Amino acid sequence: MSHNPIFPVPSQALTRTRMNSSQYAESYAQSIANPEEFWAAQARELLSWRAPFQNTLDWNFHTATIKWFEGGKLNVSENCIDRHLELRGDKVALIWEGNEPGDTKSLTYRELHRAVCETTTLLRSLGVKKGDRVAIYLPMILEAAVCMLACTRIGAIHTVVFAGFSAEALRDRINDCSCSILITANEGLRGPKTVPLKTTADQAVSECPTVRHVLVVKRTETPCPMQDDRDVWYHESLNSIAGSDNSAAEPMDSEDPLFILYTSGSTGKPKGVLHTTAGYLLYATHTFRYVFDLQEDDVHFCTADIGWITGHSYVLYGPLANGATSLMFESIPTYPDAGRYWDVVERHKATIVYTAPTAIRALAKEGDHFVTRYSRSSVRLLGTVGEPINPDAWLWYHSVVGEGRCPIVDTWWQTETGGVMISPLPGATPTKPGSATRPLVGVQPMIVDEQGQELFGNDVTGRLCIRFPWPGMMRSVYGDHERFRQTYFSTFPGLYFTGDGCRRDEDGYYWITGRVDDVLNVAGHRLGTAEVESAIVRSGAVAEAAVVGVPHDVKGQGIAAFCVLHAEVLPDAGTKMKILATVREVISPIATPDHVWFVAGLPKTRSGKIMRRILRKIGEGEYGAVGDVSTLADPSVVADIVSLVQAARLSKD
Ligand code: WTA
Repeated sequence: MSHNPIFPVPSQALTRTRMNSSQYAESYAQSIANPEEFWAAQARELLSWRAPFQNTLDWNFHTATIKWFEGGKLNVSENCIDRHLELRGDKVALIWEGNEPGDTKSLTYRELHRAVCETTTLLRSLGVKKGDRVAIYLPMILEAAVCMLACTRIGAIHTVVFAGFSAEALRDRINDCSCSILITANEGLRGPKTVPLKTTADQAVSECPTVRHVLVVKRTETPCPMQDDRDVWYHESLNSIAGSDNSAAEPMDSEDPLFILYTSGSTGKPKGVLHTTAGYLLYATHTFRYVFDLQEDDVHFCTADIGWITGHSYVLYGPLANGATSLMFESIPTYPDAGRYWDVVERHKATIVYTAPTAIRALAKEGDHFVTRYSRSSVRLLGTVGEPINPDAWLWYHSVVGEGRCPIVDTWWQTETGGVMISPLPGATPTKPGSATRPLVGVQPMIVDEQGQELFGNDVTGRLCIRFPWPGMMRSVYGDHERFRQTYFSTFPGLYFTGDGCRRDEDGYYWITGRVDDVLNVAGHRLGTAEVESAIVRSGAVAEAAVVGVPHDVKGQGIAAFCVLHAEVLPDAGTKMKILATVREVISPIATPDHVWFVAGLPKTRSGKIMRRILRKIGEGEYGAVGDVSTLADPSVVADIVSLVQAARLSKD
């Protein structure tokens, strides 16, 4: 017997579903018995091909080789736009809600086609060709979507960098994949703040030898410095190419790279996750259709920024490949107040809302009236992504936002997986608050113990792996295939290791328990402890730092930094400010530590390895649970750290 409440599939979700529970059971069984046949049929049904593929799958998880649909040719922008023109030319493809409430625009499929063709011509006039890398550092504006699609039309590889990242972070990403063009805006707007994107981009590009041009979208009237020869205004160059057309879509091979998206790992610098053309597009298309039980009249409101994988797959590619209407939101959930999402929902009649648990927790704290003063009658489905959702937040989302009538899809996936892997289906899966429930059709999860032995049956806890390829999986780390193999396929040879801990309950439902490696999940953003530590050391004040995640009631996880200062540095507020400012500058404000604790030494083994397990327990406030410290080089540091942290917490530091 399960002690978790179970929410049955609501009858309204059953009436016109694409997949009910028996259809799911049947397709799942088929997809596992014969995965290649299953995905080949999906690929033929859901995508439009210039040339058919010959070889459905070629794979080897020991060498980290994955190839889907070889021999096939297709173009992503044709699949997302051109093929809909005949039947859906006048249907709205993208709705844009700007920073100020009610500042909105939209593009029909025909208008989007025109815009993408013009931008394709423009990029080609700047010398962009198939295989080139193009960096995109833009706010959530329609031009961002148009530029991404124009890259895919040319077969250029885009790398979108979240507009909240610092100049250094942008520089490193541009240099890692040698981009020839950077597309940015003069300025961004985020709630009450302006973001000086062009100034940051200038700083970055001054150290990027491969960048030939910076294309600048004029988002506001604020002037910005322009460098002759290098910088071009987007609107001016569109005018100058008016009348010319060089927008033919390039037929791409299935395994040609589509985009690179940088994400944090447990070691070293962020890695460039490489996705390829056919497999990624198929997976985004397929998962969008079934997870959100797509209906022709849907208005899909995914709150993610296009700087993250969720924005790629479920603001842009998944919805457009399906001919759906997708909403792009430029602002933040609390501007001008905590009712903004629901204001957007009411005005645009959104039918699906897809957001992160951190946003739900933040909004729930502000009170129900911010929700209830707007109508949510258009909404039929709610979704979450990015981190485990605590049952309280789930229940609030369900009862207050969804009026108890909308199913919730808690979708587990990763930048690396390209699309959703484990999630309820609205018309098929009874839900339990906090559980991502069951694998999607075609997905073969597996739980193993620390030695890699499979844990069979139900009611088991271990590490989550995937045993068979799926089309949307990443193909490599850009420029470093060995790192790809090492990171995902060497811990448990023969399996893809997700880095997540997981429990399968007595009903076979999956519960993601969080990362088991040194990756933090702060407000749904992935950060590597090593990355934050090296930023802290860059402040010049710190000799050595160790960072761990600590529970945080809104962000899910906060960051605690244990810092050993250089001899002459004072452990005062000024030093703390300096450390925080450095982290913001080196990475981004999203990586700012919540706690900075100045300690005399870090707990290390005799071989010099930092015992993070101990620091994690201290960070969690479980001072008595630090476990065996006898193997430490200097066990006394632990008691010192505990008393220091206790004192700091009492003084609310
Ligand atoms: C976590 C975001 C629990 C997980 C699409 C994963 C989740 C990491 C969920 C990937 C969920 C994502 N429940 N945990 N529904 N969704 N995660 O690459 O730890 O930004 O490994 O991709 O977020 O984060 P990423």
